[in-house]
Amino acid sequence: MSDFQELSDPQSINQRLVDQYTEIARLAGALAHEIKNPLSTIRLNMDLMAEEFAESESPRERRVLAKVRVVQRECQRLQELLDNFLDFAKVRRYNFQPTDLNQGVRQVLELFKPKAQQAKIELVDYLASDLPTVLLDREAFHAALLNLMLNAEQAMPDGGQLVVRTYSTVQGVALELIDTGCGMDEETLEHIFEAFFSTKKGGSGLGLPTAKKIIEGHGGRITVRSELGRGTQFTIHLPIPRQLPAESSSVAASAPSASSP
Ligand SMILES: Nc1ncnc2c1ncn2[C@@H]1O[C@H](COP(=O)(O)OP(=O)(O)OP(=O)(O)O)[C@@H](O)[C@H]1O
Ligand SMILES: [Mg+2]
Repeated sequence: MSDFQELSDPQSINQRLVDQYTEIARLAGALAHEIKNPLSTIRLNMDLMAEEFAESESPRERRVLAKVRVVQRECQRLQELLDNFLDFAKVRRYNFQPTDLNQGVRQVLELFKPKAQQAKIELVDYLASDLPTVLLDREAFHAALLNLMLNAEQAMPDGGQLVVRTYSTVQGVALELIDTGCGMDEETLEHIFEAFFSTKKGGSGLGLPTAKKIIEGHGGRITVRSELGRGTQFTIHLPIPRQLPAESSSVAASAPSASSP
């Protein structure tokens, strides 16, 4: 192949883009790590300072303590942001296993139950019994689902209901999460999958982009419908694999099935 052909060949363009993305993700990840180290030193020293002033009765030292607490809180926020960013940016090596979607959903529901109870959220599940097997990287898929459930919980500060439903579709399986939370307006809906978009105080805006990336890494897609003041519905579509692998497959960020869901 000539140089020109190679440069304009869609497959090699695609490969170059993947390489560039991987390199940028690697650099961004390395930068985040570099920031984390001095940040934890700052945090440790702030914790020590707070301890020293904790018992103080002098007004001046109480004022210093209040300021130290602000720095502690901001350090904590930065640390969470960096962890979320590392989780978002990392190039995942998916370990796809033939899985019953319901089983994966039940495990996440079990994890989420105590939080839901505390937040006065009623969890309702309608899980179809005859779902075809799909390929899931259990850990990554759990993380994606948990992000969606946390958002639902945060959208229902006074409690509510979260319905989790699974069903077969023509091309695969679907999973719906329907909450009775605050909902979103059109403007918000347009941006929710963008990295760092958040309407929450202290939100990093990486939960949904991370979930989307994971679901697309499974060859699936995620859609949303929402009504302000009424609630939100997220739907995850996953494809049925053309054939189930004899053994587990480990693929770097590529879909288990080439067919679109
Ligand atoms: N179930 C929901 N109900 C209402 N709004 C939602 C819901 N899920 C997401 N959103 C909106 O989408 C925005 C982006 O969500 P995303 O999970 O990416 O970030 P975040 O929750 O703000 O921060 P974090 O990084 O901590 O998850 C939220 O700030 C919120 O405005
Ligand atoms: Mg979130």
